[in-house]
Amino acid sequence: MKVLAIETSCDETGIALVEGTKTPGGFEFVTKKAALLSQALLHSPYGGVYPNLAKREHLKNLPALFEQFKDDSYDAIAVTHGPGLEPALWTGIEFAKKLAAEKNIPLLPTNHMEGHIVSSLARRESIKSQVSNDKQISKLESIKLPVLALLVSGGHTELVLMKEWFTYEIVGKTLDDAVGEAFDKVARMLQLAYPGGPEISRLATQARSKSQKTNIKLPRPMINSNTCDMSFSGLKTAALYALRGKNLTEDEKNAFAAEFEDAVADIMVSKTRKALWDSGAQTFVIGGGVAANRYLREKLEALVLDEFPDVDLRLPELSITGDNAIMIAEAALARALSGIKENSADIRAVGNLSLAD
Ligand code: KG4
Ligand code: ZN
Repeated sequence: MKVLAIETSCDETGIALVEGTKTPGGFEFVTKKAALLSQALLHSPYGGVYPNLAKREHLKNLPALFEQFKDDSYDAIAVTHGPGLEPALWTGIEFAKKLAAEKNIPLLPTNHMEGHIVSSLARRESIKSQVSNDKQISKLESIKLPVLALLVSGGHTELVLMKEWFTYEIVGKTLDDAVGEAFDKVARMLQLAYPGGPEISRLATQARSKSQKTNIKLPRPMINSNTCDMSFSGLKTAALYALRGKNLTEDEKNAFAAEFEDAVADIMVSKTRKALWDSGAQTFVIGGGVAANRYLREKLEALVLDEFPDVDLRLPELSITGDNAIMIAEAALARALSGIKENSADIRAVGNLSLAD
C-alpha cells in the first residue's frame, strides 16, 4: 500500500510518498520520495512559531513541494489533524481533502504524536543507489509490548504507555511548559538563535569538553514527586533570575547551558526510571524534536543499560526526530495495514488532540 502523507502541524511543511508492506514480524516501509521545508529561520525573530505566519508559509509551500509528486500514484492520503497549531493544521487538511476528492481515494487523519512514536520505533536503513536518490527503508518489527514512549518536543512533554498497539495511556506529562519550549526560551535568554535546543546543546558540549563548570545551580522541579509528571516553568524562571543583570563570558554561557541541559536530563531520567518501574514496559522509545539531544540520549541509554537491561531501547535516527511527513506516512500505514479503518468524514484540525481518548 502506498500513502502520500502531508504534515503542517507546526513550522515544517512536509510531503512524503511511502510504501508499506506487512512482514512476518511487523511492517516494512520504503520512502519513495520525501520533501521538507523548514520555516525556522522566518520564525527566528519571534523566538517561537508565529501561527499565522506558519499558515501563510504552508499555503505557499504545499503546492510548491507537491510539484515533485504530481505524477505519482498512491492508494491513500494521510494528513496530520493534530495536535499542533490549528491555522497551520488546517492548511494541510484542506490540501489533502481536495486531493483525496480529486483522486477518489481515502483520507487518513493521523495523530502527529503517533507519528513520532511509530517512526522512532522503526529501525532505519538507507540503501545507497547509483541511479536514483538513496532508498530509505525502515522496519517496524519485533516490538515487545508494552512500549513506554518519552515524547519531547516544542509543544509536548509526556510519558505514554502503549499496552496494546494504538491504545495509549498518558502516565506522566508536563504540568506547564514543554521541554523544547524551555530550551527555546532559555536559549533566547542567552541570545542564541531559534530553535534553541541545538544551540544550547552545542554550547553545553563545549563546556563539557573543556570541563568548565558554573557555580550557578538550577533547580530540578518535581524530581522527587511521587508521580511521572514534570514541570519546566520553574526551571525557566530560575534561569531567568540567575542570568538577570549578569554579563556572562562565552565560557560562562557554555557552562550555564551545560547546567541547564543537566537539569533537564536529571528530570527526564528520574521520571523515565519511575515510569519504567511502574509500567513494566518491555520497550522504551523516545520521540520528538528534543529526542535529537545527544546528552539526553546518552543519559537515557545509560539508564536503560544499567538499570533495565532487559528493556529494548529504540533511539530514533537523528534524521527522523524533527517534524516531517515520513513519520505521518508510517503511522498511517501501520494502522491501515493492521486493518484499522479511519473515519475522515468530519476531519478537522484539533490543536490539543490527545493520544489517550
Ligand atoms: O518535534 P519538533 O520538531 O516540533 C514540535 O512538534 O514541537 O520539536 C521542536 C523542538 C524545538 O523546541 C527545538 O528547540 C527542540 O525540538 N530541539 C532540541 C534539539 N533539536 C531540536 N532540543 C534539545 N536538543 C536538541 N538537539
Ligand atoms: Zn513534533
